[in-house]
Amino acid sequence: EQDRRVDGIKASIRVVPDFPKKGIMFQDITTLLLEPKTFKNTVDLFVERYLGRDITVVAGIEARGFIFGPPIALAIGAKFVPLRKPQKLPGEVISEKYVLEYGTDCLEMHVGAVQPGDRALVVDDLVATGGTLCAAMNLLERAGAEVVECACVIELPKLKGSRKRCCLLIPFKWTRP
Ligand code: PRP
Repeated sequence: EQDRRVDGIKASIRVVPDFPKKGIMFQDITTLLLEPKTFKNTVDLFVERYLGRDITVVAGIEARGFIFGPPIALAIGAKFVPLRKPQKLPGEVISEKYVLEYGTDCLEMHVGAVQPGDRALVVDDLVATGGTLCAAMNLLERAGAEVVECACVIELPKLKGSRKRCCLLIPFKWTRP
């Protein structure tokens, strides 16, 4: 049953070659969202893994972690905390810079949203180099939370321009490189 759900999720993700630039095989989860049953299966697979594990906070990474994170948070009874790109959050923030292929980016989290003793799950659509997840984990740990796991729908082989199909990791435990 679980394998069939994973197959359906995999089949629903559209791969767009050369977007946003040449050589990148963009993994488009908007086609997954068009199938209510498939979207529900995706959320359910994570909920089945994380329910009953005392997770108190789901931290979603902008932008697509804001799609998968909140339904998981509601189902497991955890608060939802958005980790945003710079200059988006109105309150006091802590920031973590991370390295991208070209240049750097940054994630921010509101001070006070996460407290010492919180048990966190980080949610995003995709992991490639892991730099984004790393920054997210650092933010949560700086606030005193324990990161129980990171959950992503897709793992992208990090070989640049690779034509390999994406591999789907549900459920997914990612460890720091
Ligand atoms: C994508 C994806 C992850 C990140 C993964 O987001 O949604 O957040 O890249 O890459 P990494 O593992 O190499 O760090 P993107 O940077 O395109 O930002 P967006 O969601 O705002 O479009």
